[in-house]
Amino acid sequence: MEVYNHDLIILGTGLAGLRAALEAAQQSKGELDIALVSKLQLMRAHSVAAEGGTAAVMRQDMGDSFELHAWDTVKGSDFLADQDVVDFFVHEMPKEILHLDHWGIPWSRTEDGHIAQRPFGGHTYPRAVFAADKTGHLEMQTLYDTLMKHTKKINRYDEGFVTSILIENNRFAGLTMIDMINGKLVLIRGKALILATGGAGQIFGFTTYSETVTGDGLAMAYRAGLTLKDMEFIQFHPTGLIPSGILMTEACRGEGGTLLNNKDERFMGAYAPSKMELAPRDMVSRSEMTEIEAGRGFPGPEGLDYIHLDLRHLGRKQILERLPLIREVTIKHIGLDPIEKPIPIRPVAHYTMGGVHTDIKGHTPVENIWAAGEVSCVSLHGANRLGSNSTAECLVWGRVAGGEAARYCANASMPEMPKTAEQEWAKIEALIASTGTEDHYQIRKELRKNLDATMGVFRTGEQMEAGLKKIRELKERYKKISLKDKSLRYNTDLERAIETGFMIDVAEVATLGALTRTESRGGHARRDFNVRDDENWLKHTMADYTEAGPKLSYSKVDISMWKPVERKY
Ligand code: FUM
Repeated sequence: MEVYNHDLIILGTGLAGLRAALEAAQQSKGELDIALVSKLQLMRAHSVAAEGGTAAVMRQDMGDSFELHAWDTVKGSDFLADQDVVDFFVHEMPKEILHLDHWGIPWSRTEDGHIAQRPFGGHTYPRAVFAADKTGHLEMQTLYDTLMKHTKKINRYDEGFVTSILIENNRFAGLTMIDMINGKLVLIRGKALILATGGAGQIFGFTTYSETVTGDGLAMAYRAGLTLKDMEFIQFHPTGLIPSGILMTEACRGEGGTLLNNKDERFMGAYAPSKMELAPRDMVSRSEMTEIEAGRGFPGPEGLDYIHLDLRHLGRKQILERLPLIREVTIKHIGLDPIEKPIPIRPVAHYTMGGVHTDIKGHTPVENIWAAGEVSCVSLHGANRLGSNSTAECLVWGRVAGGEAARYCANASMPEMPKTAEQEWAKIEALIASTGTEDHYQIRKELRKNLDATMGVFRTGEQMEAGLKKIRELKERYKKISLKDKSLRYNTDLERAIETGFMIDVAEVATLGALTRTESRGGHARRDFNVRDDENWLKHTMADYTEAGPKLSYSKVDISMWKPVERKY
């Protein structure tokens, strides 16, 4: 086993990871020895797929305000967001937009040169700052370019597949990693860890996420003893392209696109008359499913009945200027030009509101571990995230965690050499040697199908109970898998197998949390408990790992600014 030592380890190189690295590098004047670890090549993190925008209050002179952004976020969250966290976030966000501006990002602009902003769902002011419909991609490029200017000591571990987070004596002690390129087992030690590995959307079959988003960081943190919070809240984005699920950005509707049923009706008037297509995502997704279930959708392949997203009235010029990626994707993937025809879409798994429990500074209860971005649950989004608040969250808490961890590293010693790395390698070696009869690819397929069927836009206790039973059956079958590839170099058979194990754990936590929460709130819509129940359920779900399965407990929600009221749009 090779051992590498660094000051700060950042696991995950999407927006949150890069923003954290940049802040840590700047604070230490480039002197901190930082390891950037990712199972992907740099710039392939899923953040590059963020399209529509990043929310920030930029125009107080034109009627926007911090209070309004905070209120929209809290109401959007169905009152499960921690309001102190929301307040902090809205005040920090404009600075991030200006940092990126000064670092050279090509924000889209208004005629008079201001940073342009477009409407997004659930926001009462057009506050999504954007770079056409390639916002995440350009944010990533800008952060990486700037990072390179600020540090001499970045060590990249591209295609380093991390298998476990080692915590000993309540301190982070290292990561076990398979160096995929060279086929070596590696231990990376550091004084501190920032976890920035993103979400877990691949637990669903129909999803906007890339193949790589398998919940690794969530599962490893959970197995290592960190608590997962609010995992039952999954966001379904209203516009996933049929049949692949590729994101058709909310900016399509922000630019004026409409949703039509098979009678050519703009049905959102019946569900959210004041906001129409720009109601929050949970509501638009439920409205679409209601239309489809009532027979007002279009028949689609493999049960993927759909709705039309119509952009035709925007005209060629606006589509080419504001939504070029959408046009490119629809032409390349389904041979459809949105200038001429409506796009077939339906709700698609898009985001995990829950994650690793942290405090307002992104700090976990382990003294030298922070988490930022989608893997974390700082409790900004509650039960339903507003569009464009996610890239924003990555920027704010990437910076906060990067700064906090850098300060910590300046005075901390290296934790002792971990004693548990060998046990982890023994597990990996046993997995490679395994000769079981089960096929892990088949298990993954069944898991994803199961989640689609039981943890969708609408849920029932009966479905989720069956779903949980199936997950547990898959968990047992997983113990009997075998691998065909017995090598270590670029062993994607091994990588996929380990990922599937992670996915099973995440799916179990999410489903148990959902089954136990006997109310409807935000993205968790139960047919058998169809109203919000603040008396019993205005609380966060906390899940801790035990051998027998997740152990649930609950924690308080900060409602220091607004008491919950009925959520209408
Ligand atoms: O629709 C979108 O562009 C997605 C944005 C988001 O999830 O915040």
